[in-house]
Amino acid sequence: MRIPGFYRLSLTERRSKLGLGAAQIALLDQGGLDLDAADHMIENVVGLFGLPLGVALNFVVNGKEHLIPMAVEEPSVVAAASNAARLVRAAGGFHAEADAPVMTAQVQLVSVEDPDGAVARIEAARAQILAEAEGASGRLCARGGGPRDVSVRILSRPGQPDGGVLVVHLDVDCRDAMGANLVNSVAEALAPRLALLAGTGARPGLRILTNLADRRCVRVSARVPAAALGDGVAEAIVAASRFAELDPYRAATHNKGIMNGVDAVLLATGNDWRGVEAGAHAFAARGGRYAPLAVWKAEGDDLVGSLEMPMAVGTVGGALRSHPCARLALELAQVESAQELAGLVGAAGLASNLAALRALATEGIQRGHMSLHARAVARQAGATGEAVERVADELAALGDLSPERARAILFPMEVSK
Ligand code: MEV
Repeated sequence: MRIPGFYRLSLTERRSKLGLGAAQIALLDQGGLDLDAADHMIENVVGLFGLPLGVALNFVVNGKEHLIPMAVEEPSVVAAASNAARLVRAAGGFHAEADAPVMTAQVQLVSVEDPDGAVARIEAARAQILAEAEGASGRLCARGGGPRDVSVRILSRPGQPDGGVLVVHLDVDCRDAMGANLVNSVAEALAPRLALLAGTGARPGLRILTNLADRRCVRVSARVPAAALGDGVAEAIVAASRFAELDPYRAATHNKGIMNGVDAVLLATGNDWRGVEAGAHAFAARGGRYAPLAVWKAEGDDLVGSLEMPMAVGTVGGALRSHPCARLALELAQVESAQELAGLVGAAGLASNLAALRALATEGIQRGHMSLHARAVARQAGATGEAVERVADELAALGDLSPERARAILFPMEVSK
């Protein structure tokens, strides 16, 4: 969504621009969580831990305007994503496509004496296994989800150090839930039957989802006319992207820039960012070498970016039940399904990546950080409202970000006394 000059408004004005009501504002004032609710969320609670909640602007995803809620402590992440989204918006916005929301549960089977026979029996029993999994899926099937597939792999054979070990994958469409609890229950319910099929001596091992949710990927693409970036910038971004393909050390930082956007939206919307992180990095290494999750290439006169990564997110259940601020963030994002949210999260990741590469390929990352730091110094010196920008601009122009200089600009009389 485009709201010109949003960042120059006061906090109160920003809230009113978003049309937030008194109840929503009261919720945001207290971080969306009271002590009692927190005490029921986790164990040994001694307090709350605050983070700023911002909104990234200018995002158009699949032709629809969105605000992107972001909870993050790092300055410049929200501004960078918004700036990149503005460039992408001019060329039609982000295109996102999310797989069906299929999570995979793993059932490990150990002490399997005849792995090939076990695989054959499990594959032959596919229909019964799916029917049994359906029975263990509660009301999921009524909501259009449910078990979709069964597959089995041999991890080790008798005689090898680990003995006969199989893993069975149960794919379950979780609809708008992230689905961890759902698929873990299905795995636990099905494990005894799978061990029986695996033959004499076989026992169930672990029964838990995999965070390498590669059946639940999001693919996002974006196009920016090279002319909109300035001379040589598109080429420099393509070269920076190639660097990440050539070097895992660079790929790790490149992907960190993507996760700046991804994690901030996940956190704001009450999603399991550790799960998505784990899946992202395992996916990045799937080819045997750690690789970038997004790349940028030249296409005619355009710079084109594409991102692909697992995106196990939900718009129901999980922390959304207990965290009203996460529910409010989802309302602000205006998403109707987990798949739509996955597209938004991916777009935030690709925008963050574009902003980082653009800064790195041109002026370097520190200058942008400098102006944000200048604003923080201005605020700490006592500047409020419009004075923040005025003092920050002057500090940046002077190249002096000391608190003393900020106070001198803000209170010239006091200092000259
Ligand atoms: C900093 O939070 C993220 C960057 O390091 C990402 C990158 O190098 O691409 C700027």
